[in-house]
Amino acid sequence: MTRRSWVIPAVGTMSGVLLVVGIGLFVSPVFRNLMENRLKKEIVLVEGSRVFESWKTPPPPVYMEFFFFNVTNAAQVLEGAKPEVVQIGPYTYREYRYKENVSMVENGTEVVAYNTKSFVFLREKSVGDPREDAITNINIPAWAVMTRVKGSFFRANMVSIWMNTLRVGLLTTRTVDELLWGYRDPLLVRVSSTNPDVETFFGLMYKKNGSNDGEFVYHTGQQNYMDYGRVKTWKGQSKLSFWTSDQCNHINGSDGSAFHPLLRKDERIYIFTSDLCRSIHMDFEKEVQVKGIPAYRFTPPRSVFASKEENPANKGFCVTPKECLGTGLLKVSPCRKGKPCFAKHLAEDKYVDAIKGMSPQREHHQTFLDLNPTTGVIVRANKRAQVNILISRILGFPKTKNLNETVFPVMFLNESVLIDDASALRVQKLLLIVSVVSNFPLIIVALGAIMLVIFIILLVRERKRMTSTEEDTSYSPVSDNDKKEDPQNGTHIGLTTKAEPQA
Ligand SMILES: *[C@@H]1O[C@H](CO)[C@@H](O)[C@H](O)[C@H]1NC(C)=O
Ligand SMILES: *[C@@H]1O[C@H](CO)[C@@H](O)[C@H](O)[C@H]1NC(C)=O
Ligand SMILES: *[C@@H]1O[C@H](CO)[C@@H](O)[C@H](O)[C@H]1NC(C)=O
Ligand SMILES: *[C@@H]1O[C@H](CO)[C@@H](O)[C@H](O)[C@H]1NC(C)=O
Ligand SMILES: *[C@@H]1O[C@H](CO)[C@@H](O)[C@H](O)[C@H]1NC(C)=O
Ligand SMILES: *[C@@H]1O[C@H](CO)[C@@H](O)[C@H](O)[C@H]1NC(C)=O
Repeated sequence: MTRRSWVIPAVGTMSGVLLVVGIGLFVSPVFRNLMENRLKKEIVLVEGSRVFESWKTPPPPVYMEFFFFNVTNAAQVLEGAKPEVVQIGPYTYREYRYKENVSMVENGTEVVAYNTKSFVFLREKSVGDPREDAITNINIPAWAVMTRVKGSFFRANMVSIWMNTLRVGLLTTRTVDELLWGYRDPLLVRVSSTNPDVETFFGLMYKKNGSNDGEFVYHTGQQNYMDYGRVKTWKGQSKLSFWTSDQCNHINGSDGSAFHPLLRKDERIYIFTSDLCRSIHMDFEKEVQVKGIPAYRFTPPRSVFASKEENPANKGFCVTPKECLGTGLLKVSPCRKGKPCFAKHLAEDKYVDAIKGMSPQREHHQTFLDLNPTTGVIVRANKRAQVNILISRILGFPKTKNLNETVFPVMFLNESVLIDDASALRVQKLLLIVSVVSNFPLIIVALGAIMLVIFIILLVRERKRMTSTEEDTSYSPVSDNDKKEDPQNGTHIGLTTKAEPQA
């Protein structure tokens, strides 16, 4: 009787206190703030931390697939026919990315590094042998030279004569290996004899294996978590100089390998890509799940690559008015030493129609970034870009007289990354801790509620007991016999073996 008399009030008080404290903590988001501050402090590039290690050498595997457009009616194209192309690929490479010569500066608020990439061919994920598969397409070095000398009657004639004597055509057949990793081009060799600055090798990925794209200085996020991984300078410059407007020349955002924690849906993500020599942005599209990790999908809106008519902010990407090509095309030659290349993202139909065999895929759907909003970790990403050459009639080159102006597709690439299982497990664990800690007040409230239920049950029982004791005074405690162990129970059953056949 005395034992019970204090139990009920104690349970009642406890449940009351837990409920009040729990709701109080829930209303004033102490634990959430605590956790967020912890994350902001933890996700910083500090020497020795795990974040720093995986920033330097990201563990998830990156795959780079190359697809080529093989021209099947080469002879007719030169006579003015509509080009017909067949897409050939993928030629898949495992891309290794790591940061080299990393050093902390400015008291650990900034870090200097070089981004090195190397590519190893994966035969089993490819359609053929890049050393043997031959692709017929635009002769890019020839077009580069021709575009360079156009307007000068004398130089155009000279190049035209060289092209004839060297038997250099407007189209050329080269192996995938040559197209990607470089070959010695006879015309470039000839040009370099009078102009030693000219590189005699040409390849879409020439010198990209095992090399870096210059010195980057990043913010570590120590001062402000929003700055985690943000590029401060590239090659010593905080601004580009290729484009004609300040806005276009800005270096915005990270290099695409690190994003600050606590992302919001209304946030615009900026990425500076040295491949395109510009910054792009991405907006929230939808929520996705990758390997059990919740993520926000960010995609570049159409306006990023829109023509200057559609998005006047892009006017600065037109270096000369004539070189402005409609939506989805960006001329990257200003930063590629004058090679007439265009990166394409979503081409207008007028360019797609001019080529047979090209299906107008909605490429912007293939460039996305899935980020875990709590930690900013990349869980999946895909990048698609296409290389095109603008061809047209060039004065002084009779061979081009039948050609209409066309953006000729050469190659597209599909770069993808998916978080590896070990990293996924680590992120899942971290998210579990975060959710437990930030939901701690709810746990207290739940405990309080359970206590409340027990309190009510006890109270009701007590009432019943009080009324029943008046009728039946013979109250006997529960027998201990139930607890005796039964030797036949449980443990033996699994161990008994069947009769042995040999007997
Ligand atoms: C590309 O097309 C040419 C014919 O135009 C053909 O000979 C060649 O085998 C094709 N290349 C590949 C890799 O299929
Ligand atoms: C070139 O353009 C003209 C005018 O737009 C058109 O009539 C002609 O058919 C085109 N030629 C080719 C090969 O596309
Ligand atoms: C890194 O440092 C080493 C030694 O100082 C130097 O040889 C190398 O060129 C540097 N790498 C880069 C990418 O600058
Ligand atoms: C680094 O910190 C020390 C002490 O806090 C300060 O005296 C020094 O000026 C700082 N150096 C830089 C480059 O910020
Ligand atoms: C790139 O370099 C690595 C080693 O530096 C080599 O194993 C790989 O085969 C190279 N890739 C290509 C495509 O040449
Ligand atoms: C690019 O790669 C991703 C991931 O491997 C794949 O889902 C997608 O279909 C690929 N796109 C193309 C055009 O091959």
